[in-house]
Amino acid sequence: MDPTTTNVFNVLDPQAHRLKRRLVGQLVTGGSVHRVEPMIAEQVEIFVKQLVTLCIMDSPPIINMSQRCKYLGLDIAALLAFGYQLRLQTDDKHRYLIRAIPRGSWIINMYMQFWFLKTIKFGIPIYLPAIIRGEAFLPTLRKMIDARLGEDTHARVDLYSHLADALNASDNNKITLKELWAEAIFFLPAAGDTSSTALSSLFFYVAQNSECQRKLAEEIRTTFATGADIRGGRKLTNCQYLQACINEALRMSPPVAGTLWREQGPEAANEAFVVDGVVIPKGTQVGVNIYSIHHNPEYFPSPFVYKPERWLVDDPEAKKANTAAFLPFSIGARACAGKPLAYLEIGMAMAKTLWYFDFELARDAGPDASHRDTEFKLKDVFTSDHDGPYLRFRPRGSLYRELVND
Ligand code: HEM
Repeated sequence: MDPTTTNVFNVLDPQAHRLKRRLVGQLVTGGSVHRVEPMIAEQVEIFVKQLVTLCIMDSPPIINMSQRCKYLGLDIAALLAFGYQLRLQTDDKHRYLIRAIPRGSWIINMYMQFWFLKTIKFGIPIYLPAIIRGEAFLPTLRKMIDARLGEDTHARVDLYSHLADALNASDNNKITLKELWAEAIFFLPAAGDTSSTALSSLFFYVAQNSECQRKLAEEIRTTFATGADIRGGRKLTNCQYLQACINEALRMSPPVAGTLWREQGPEAANEAFVVDGVVIPKGTQVGVNIYSIHHNPEYFPSPFVYKPERWLVDDPEAKKANTAAFLPFSIGARACAGKPLAYLEIGMAMAKTLWYFDFELARDAGPDASHRDTEFKLKDVFTSDHDGPYLRFRPRGSLYRELVND
């Protein structure tokens, strides 16, 4: 890809950013979310069906939730981007992607910290074996884009249908094919990888804290009448304890592990850049890591304790203080465009799982003893790589049979 081609995440010019942001935003924010709800519900249904299948195959089974959540996250992201059925949840053909994406993120992260590595093409020997095996990210992305280009532009509600309109525009709103590529390269990990990290860590914390699991299960099982009823909408967003559990998992283990560096833009070159009373020299990048803010006891007392209740306080001042220091999606004009969609996906997957199952940590399983920690550990690859939690599932009565029989 041409290195000068930008996407919504890395474009510097504020006006160009607004255009790209509008294109992506049409799909993933506010009122648009309900249009993709049925697709997400369908994928979440496959997620719980797979848990049932794994339970039947091996009883009681031990399931690595990072794997299952990554399959779900990327299947949804590919459908959102190009209406493409990756089918990682049910078929192992493209499952190499769950290794290829963190590998790519790790290399990009290295470039971001040590720019000279890019000039010596440090990534090539690392990518090469996967390219030779036919297991690299970019050729798979090409396959998805080619398949979508062969369809009618508005055949589906996906990112492509919005970008294609901009490809054909003749005015300032036009984007090039290279820009479409740049957007696609960013979108798949941005949408798929982050949500699956958040869901994996939510499973970890809810499994580790049995009282939280009891309260959460009670909320889900009294709010909904059937498993099929869990399809998004108001009922799901009104599950206050569920939202609190998600927030607390995002606080403890924020999926974007890297620091979001900022420097003064050329449009403000003549103004002093002042942060907290300190004048920042030109060309200097500044940033505060999300994890650090989320673990500052001034904002979150007992920061290493998983406590969803901290999100359910009545005192407006305490509520405001929590919210001000909570930034898993970042803040400002460049904050995450997919936040409502992320809550929908994570909330629906957890609610539906708890409708059909109880679960617990399999303390004897997993490659290390990380389950004995009170924190779900993430490896910083700018976003995150992770393993586990390894869970044992117990079906809730015979409810799961409705998933097997239809
Ligand atoms: C729990 C899940 C997610 C987390 C924690 C997360 C977090 C973030 C963060 C920290 C940023 C960087 C903002 C900055 O530079 O200041 C970002 C950007 C972005 N995210 Fe997410 N994200 C999540 C899910 C999603 C999903 C599901 C989508 C799309 C469906 C998405 C789309 C985007 C886009 C398009 C941007 C670029 C925004 C811009 O630069 O204007 N994200 N996200």
